[in-house]
Amino acid sequence: MPAKHIAIVTSSTRTPRLNPTITRYIHDTLHKDPEIPTRKTLHTSTTTEPNPNIDTDIPDTDPRHITLSIIDLKAQNLPLYDEPIIPATLPATNPAPHYKKPHTRAWSTLIQEYDAFIFVTPQYNWSVPASLKNALDYLFHEWKGKPAGIVTYGSRGGVKAADHLRGILTGLRMRVVPTNVGLPVKFTGVPVGTLSEEEEEVFIDERDLEGWKEAGVEGMLRNLGMEIVCELDKN
Ligand SMILES: Cc1cc2nc3c(=O)[nH]c(=O)nc-3n(C[C@H](O)[C@H](O)[C@H](O)COP(=O)(O)O)c2cc1C
Repeated sequence: MPAKHIAIVTSSTRTPRLNPTITRYIHDTLHKDPEIPTRKTLHTSTTTEPNPNIDTDIPDTDPRHITLSIIDLKAQNLPLYDEPIIPATLPATNPAPHYKKPHTRAWSTLIQEYDAFIFVTPQYNWSVPASLKNALDYLFHEWKGKPAGIVTYGSRGGVKAADHLRGILTGLRMRVVPTNVGLPVKFTGVPVGTLSEEEEEVFIDERDLEGWKEAGVEGMLRNLGMEIVCELDKN
């Protein structure tokens, strides 16, 4: 049985930003967890090209095997929604050719390659960043029926963003797993004025990491990961 492909989505797009660092933490925590049956190393989608992990010829022994990749919305560079059609009205199987804009066709083709998603997002004004809502709005059938997990961050963990996102994903008919992971960022921040446009690494403050450990974040991420694996088993 071929491995199932999970994309971890980096949702904020400003420069500089914290999201890639948090996404990497989520990826690494899931990847090193012995209970999560990951098969492959990290692939970050920095372009709209297909994921090279997907056609690799690695023998699968565990039918639950998954791959973890990262999709960065900033690299997708989607304009504000500019399709004349409503995505839900398109044919359910391979809607990509029916979109009018090349960026939508590329986005549709990329998302169709994945079986499940973990959305990693900051809270912006009690909701998700417009970049994430915009990227979700572009498609419908490509999301529909697929398992989704939610990880948020903010001064109190981004719970309001998580609530909004659960509603949006449910509207897209995704199978949102029960565990939300909220990461309070009290000490970690983007040192404004010190990072270049090329975006040097932003590090997670040890005090936040310690707080997450004490709150059992690694166990929550394992629950979220295993809930997605179980949902994929039902396919
Ligand atoms: C436009 C904007 C709105 C924000 N609103 C909230 C908020 O409602 N609650 C919160 O805890 N943090 C809020 N923040 C702080 C962000 O959680 C924090 O800046 C975080 O680093 C943003 O993620 P990013 O660096 O990946 O963009 C906001 C930040 C921005 C830029």
